[in-house]
Parts: sequence; structure tokens; C-alpha cells
Amino acid sequence: MTRIYLSPPEVGPEERTMLLAAFDSNWIAPTGPDLDAFEREFAERVEVEHAVGLSSGTAALHLGLMLSGVGPGDDVLVPSFTFVATAAAVTYLGANPVFVDCSPLTWTVDPALVAEELAERARHGRLPAAVVSVDLYGQSTDYDALVPLCDEYEIPLIEDAAEALGATYRGRPAGSFGRAAVFSFNGNKIITTSGGGMLVADSGDLIDRARHLANQARDPFPHYEHSVIGYNYRLSNLLAALGRAQLRGLDSRIERRHAINGAYRSALGDLPGIRFMPIADYGEPNWWLTCITVDPEQFGADSAQIRLALEAVDIEARPTWKPLHLQPVFKGAPTVGGSICADIFERGLCLPSGSALSEGDLGRVVETIRGVPG
Ligand SMILES: Cc1ncc(COP(=O)(O)O)c(C=O)c1O
Repeated sequence: MTRIYLSPPEVGPEERTMLLAAFDSNWIAPTGPDLDAFEREFAERVEVEHAVGLSSGTAALHLGLMLSGVGPGDDVLVPSFTFVATAAAVTYLGANPVFVDCSPLTWTVDPALVAEELAERARHGRLPAAVVSVDLYGQSTDYDALVPLCDEYEIPLIEDAAEALGATYRGRPAGSFGRAAVFSFNGNKIITTSGGGMLVADSGDLIDRARHLANQARDPFPHYEHSVIGYNYRLSNLLAALGRAQLRGLDSRIERRHAINGAYRSALGDLPGIRFMPIADYGEPNWWLTCITVDPEQFGADSAQIRLALEAVDIEARPTWKPLHLQPVFKGAPTVGGSICADIFERGLCLPSGSALSEGDLGRVVETIRGVPG
């Protein structure tokens, strides 16, 4: 039996054809027609004006935060319940993450806690330089609550939509709410370029400046001229060709991941103590990962026991993100709340959710989980 992975890449003949066409064109560089087209097609899909392809989602976060004015000594509000990259990018700029708990109803940042923190900081004249939202596991943040707050205090909102390409909030795509938004094409994401990312924004100026910085801040001269320090952050044209093919298949991938989520719900939903990540009624997730929480007393085993039982039959499942305020590297960082995401981490598990997961494999996962207690 072959190993079942959490969210492996799914590529087909169209990816192969487009990648080889780019290869044959000899545009084997971080520039070229596929990169231009990928940026255009991506911006159109996310309903923003501009996009720049980058080497990773983390690079996109770094530049997005920098170009929103975050700098040394600044505070930035960041959800605690996320992957480390969201906060690592803040520290690249010499700024300090302030971790905010999630809502139990959405697992995304709790806007009420953001409101309290901003009010408190406004009273002391210590407003953060930016707020970062994370559209977690493919579900949007509550933007009707968060955007007016950021507007009120005139603080830029950066949207980390790395996991949420194709998700919507009240019909609008994830990635269209922040001053800038970030996507990842890491190997486990809903579309992949093996590694890569995209920074999007309505501001052409912001994206032009990001493109300049991502290209070693090379100024427009025939020789190499540089007036600021830049980065080598551009996406390869070859990978952009792969990304274009993947983007064409996005809707069918979302459909499949949605069906997988539905299948898990109907096959496991009757088990005592098993709950699924809540789906907010304000939008449509992209169903990137199906996540559950386990109450060990009701279920008869805890999430670690389920994970080990799956691993014993070569099935990969992962604990939900360990909250960043509990990570050794962020020990002592200021935190607003924190018990909700800590509790989800204690009990949470992400199940295999890749769009290529077969019915047979799904059956194997379900059967193993159902057999764990006792
Ligand atoms: C929420 C979140 N932010 C940022 C990233 C970083 O993206 P990348 O791996 O492309 O740097 C990821 C995933 O890897 C992520 O899940």
C-alpha cells in the first residue's frame, strides 16, 4: 500500500506541457512571458489590480510588510494560530510580533480582541505599524469586522492568504481585503510551483517597488546600479509556467477538497468527541485542509493516538499549528488572549486532504480513525 500524504502536489499533462514549453522557449530565468502571464492571470483571479511572482510566500510577507511601512522597533499584531512564517517575516524587519488569539467560531483572528488591543494601544499612543490576518486552513478572516478597525486607526492590514487561494468572503476572493496580500505555492498548497509565492495589491506603486526589491533593487541603468539593498526573491519563469497550469485547475481542486471534507463529515461526524473546524457562514473556504478536534474522554483516545494509529498504517496526519505564543523562539512575546488556540492545538488534527486523494484512500483513513478507540 502506498503512503497517504497530508496534501501532496497534484500535477497532470497540462502542467507537463506548459513547463516543457517554457523550457523549450529558453526563458529559463526569473523573468519571461510565463511569469508576466502568471502575474496577470493571478491578479485577475484574486480580483486585485497587480501581482508580483516571488520565490516564496515568506518573501511576499517580508516585502508586503516592508512596503506597508513596518520597520525596526515597530509592533505588528499577528494571529498566534498560524505557521511560523507569518511572524518570522515581522522579525526580519526588526519589528516585534504581538500575538492575538483566534475566535473559536472560525479559528481565524478574533476581531474583538484586535479591537480591544487597538483601543488600549491608542490610549497609550502605541499603535502597531500593521495588522496581519491569516485566512487559516483556507477559511477567510471576518473582514467586515477587521477592515473598519484597521481603517479607523489608519493601520495597514496585510492579508496572509497563503493557505486560502480560491476562498471567498461574502463573495469576494481571499487576498482582496488587505493593503497587500500574500499567497504561497509551496508543495503542499492548493496549487503549487514546488516553491513560490505571490504578493498582490491594488497599488501599482507597491507592486512596482516589490518587483524592484525582489530583483536586488537594480536601478534602470545599463550597468548594475543600486541605491538601496534588495533581495533575490523573484519566481522562475519555468515555475510560473507550472503555476499557470495549476491555476487553470484551481476550481476542480477546490471542488474535490470540498467533497473530501463532506465525505469526512459524513463518515466521522457521528463519532462522539470528534468535531470539525467550524465553517463560518460569511464565506466559502477553499477546503485546503480538513481539520478536526478530539475530546479524548468522549472519543476514547486523543488526537496524538489517532495520529500514531494513522502513521502505523502509513497515513500522514499532522497536529494543527502550534500557537506562536507557545513557540520557544517567541518566548516572552506580548500576547492577547491565547487559550483558544492553545486548546485547539491540544486537541487538533489535520487529515489527509489532497485533491488527488482517492475514494479508496479516504476509506482507509476513515476506517483507521473509526478503529482507534478501545
Ligand atoms: C499561513 C502561512 N503563511 C505563510 C506561509 C509561507 O509560505 P512559503 O512556504 O511559500 O514561504 C505558509 C506556508 O508555507 C502558510 O501556511
